Amino acid sequence: MKLGIARERREGERRVAATPETVKQLAGLGLEVLVESRAGVFAGHGDDDYRQAGAQIVQDLDIGDLDVYAHVHPLEPPTAAALRRGAVTVGLASPSSELATVRALSEGGITSFALELVPRISRAQSMDALSSQALVAGYRCVLEAAIRLPRFFPLFMTAAGTVPPARVLVLGVGVAGLQAIGTAKRLGARVSANDIRPSSAEEVTSMGGTFIKLDLETAEASGGYARELSADRGALQRQLLAPHVAEADVLITTAAIPGRRAPLLVTREMVQGMRAGSVVVDLAAESGGNVEGSLPGRDVHIPTADGRGAVTLVGLKDAPSAMPADASRLYAKNVANLLALMTCDGTVAPDFDDDVVAGACLTHDGVVRHAQTAEALAALGQEDEAEKASENEGVV
Ligand code: NAI
Repeated sequence: MKLGIARERREGERRVAATPETVKQLAGLGLEVLVESRAGVFAGHGDDDYRQAGAQIVQDLDIGDLDVYAHVHPLEPPTAAALRRGAVTVGLASPSSELATVRALSEGGITSFALELVPRISRAQSMDALSSQALVAGYRCVLEAAIRLPRFFPLFMTAAGTVPPARVLVLGVGVAGLQAIGTAKRLGARVSANDIRPSSAEEVTSMGGTFIKLDLETAEASGGYARELSADRGALQRQLLAPHVAEADVLITTAAIPGRRAPLLVTREMVQGMRAGSVVVDLAAESGGNVEGSLPGRDVHIPTADGRGAVTLVGLKDAPSAMPADASRLYAKNVANLLALMTCDGTVAPDFDDDVVAGACLTHDGVVRHAQTAEALAALGQEDEAEKASENEGVV
């Protein structure tokens, strides 16, 4: 079977779905691997590296000729429509926001696998791109804060005086938050953190951070994910967090609820209450933002309430893409491991009796298999119908 690896087209996307190492693995499974020229340029892999690993380099992939297509960024609807019926895709799909693509994949009879849907069970950890990319993002957001902060992270005792360590507060302690805590600790900061899942307290402590316990009911849903807080409890959480935010030199927010807009944890007023020069990094900026006023890909300077200066609010965008070499190394392994699970003698043949395969499948044979996405598409279809009907009413 022909497996294509694309040069990612979307602006800001610097990762690649295969490295020379995974090309070897995939070719070893009997797949014919085609890599688009310069696909790995940002990740540090030249065409010759891929060639030596067993790939064929092509100037432009002929999408319609592929049996399997591996990608990083969710496909655009025209790309999905260009795939041939029965083709298999593996990559990130953002199913909750990219409904037009899901529709194109389903209508085109594509068997698509969304890495976001890989079940978070031990057996599937090596295919879990949410975790691998969150690790990169969590590390990166601390560095983004450190270079903007007008002071040191570590404690320094020098002949010219003692400099106290920076205080870092992390809100949301999933994979990215834990990595942020670890990175900030390695840089020597004093780190505290909060999450609404009770199990996170122990994880924070094990990374060397201090868990901030709020007088708030806990909110853990099935599968270890958080549940969305009610409006009242969200407001209470912000009120209880305000003094901790005010004390921090660096605030990092990574809170998310799967498939929903990111919860608002920090208001503009809370940011204004911080000291001048403080830095806030909002890792959730692209999914609605944990911090009021954050803009993806932009630094916003918010004047402090005491008039002494401003707080830098960083809306992170494409964080894993900012470290394309290691982000691609991990991502490519996730893709190759999922493909390996489904490949036998050079043929990708998904076995839907396997929980991991079934769980990760977004569309197959004209059906949207992920229930939540199917419901969202049906609701969108009804909205479209209603809109058409109201337009027709106006036509005489
Ligand atoms: P995520 O990216 O969905 O969310 C990040 C964090 O935000 C979560 O810890 C969540 O509890 C927190 N959060 C949500 N609303 C909040 C609020 N209002 N205030 C404060 N924090 C809030 O999470 P991620 O990183 O994908 O991990 C989610 C869970 O999955 C964790 O329990 C993690 O340990 C688990 N997991 C399990 C794996 C496995 O077993 N293979 C692999 C990776 C993660």
